[in-house]
Amino acid sequence: MTTVSKKLFGATQKGENIYIFTLINNSNMTVELMNYGATIISIKVPDKNNKITDVLLGYDELSKYEKQDKYLGATIGRCANRIENAEITINNKKYKLNKNDNNNHLHGGIEGFDKKVWNFEITENNDVKFFYTSPDMEENYPGELKTCVTYSIENETNTLKISYNATSNKDTICNLTNHSYFNLDGFNSGSVLNQYVQILADYYTQNTKASVPDGKICSVKNTPLDFRIPKKIGQDINSSFEQIKFANGFDNNWVINNYDKTIKKAACAYSLKSGIKLEVSTDLPGIQFYSGNYLGGDEKVLGKSETAIDKRCGFCLECQFFPNAFKYEHFEKPVLKANEIYNKTILYSFSLV
Ligand code: BGC
Repeated sequence: MTTVSKKLFGATQKGENIYIFTLINNSNMTVELMNYGATIISIKVPDKNNKITDVLLGYDELSKYEKQDKYLGATIGRCANRIENAEITINNKKYKLNKNDNNNHLHGGIEGFDKKVWNFEITENNDVKFFYTSPDMEENYPGELKTCVTYSIENETNTLKISYNATSNKDTICNLTNHSYFNLDGFNSGSVLNQYVQILADYYTQNTKASVPDGKICSVKNTPLDFRIPKKIGQDINSSFEQIKFANGFDNNWVINNYDKTIKKAACAYSLKSGIKLEVSTDLPGIQFYSGNYLGGDEKVLGKSETAIDKRCGFCLECQFFPNAFKYEHFEKPVLKANEIYNKTILYSFSLV
C-alpha cells in the first residue's frame, strides 16, 4: 500500500503554511510534493546499483521556490508555454493577457499557478489532491477556473500519475502541465548532455526567434530535432540548425504521433550511467522538450544540498496543447467551455534500462 505523510516545509513570505507531502510505494519510489505551486520537489527511485537517486532539480528552502523564475517542478497554468503578443480571442472577444516574456505571455503570466498556494486533501487511496480557484480575469483570463491536480503513485510500478481537472463558469483557456527538470543521474550530477532522449514524434512545430510557434508543422526527418531513435541530448545541441540557435539548445514543441486523446507514450529518457529510465505518457497532443538552456545565468541560487543549478543540468518534457494555438486554425485550441470538465493526464514511469 502506498503511504502518505505530511510535514511543515515553512511559511511563505505572506505567512501561509506550506507542507511537504511524501508518497512512498513498496518498490522504493518516493515522491515529495508541496502545496506551493502544486509542485513536485523530488522523485527518488533506485538506480542500477539499487542506490536511491533523486532525479529532480529543486531547492531545500521554500524561499528559493518563491524567488525562482524557472518553474522547477511546478504546475503551470492557466496556459503552458508562450502566447504571442499575449493575445487570445475567445467567442470573438479579444483578451490581452499579462506580458511576462518580452511581448509574450509565458506559463500563465506574471503570477502563474506555480506561485499560488493551493488547498490540499489526502484521499482514502493515499492520493494527494491540490485545489486552486483562479478568479475571473486573473492575468486577464476570462472565467473563474476551479483547478484540481491529483498526484498518485502506483504500488508495483514506479509510476507517478498526475491528473488535471478543471471547470470554469465562462469559456476560457486551460492548458495545464508540469515543469519538472530531470537529471537521471541525480540532481547533483551536472550536465545532462550524456543522457538519452527519445520523442515519439515525426513532426515538430517551428518557432520564431522568440521561441513561439509560427504555425508551420515540420518533419523531423534529416534535422537535429529527430529524436525518434534515442539520442544523446548533447549529440546535436550545438548544431547550427536555426531552431536550435534560436533557443540556445532544444526548446520546441513536438507533435506526438497518433494523437487520439487517449493516453499514449510520448517520450522516454535514460542514462546509461545510472541505468534509470523515464517514460512520459499523456493524452495531450504536444510535448515540449527543453534542455535547460536558460538555467544558471547571473543570479546563482543554489539548489538542493547547495548544488549549483547550471545551464543544461536538467531537462524538461512538458506535455501540453501546442503553444500559440489561438493564432493558427490548424492547432487544436485549449479552450475549456463553461461548465465542461477538463480532464488530462501525465504519467512519469521509472524503470531500469
Ligand atoms: C520553455 C522555455 C522557457 C522555460 C522557462 C520552458 O517550458 O519552453 O522557453 O525558457 O520553460 O524556464
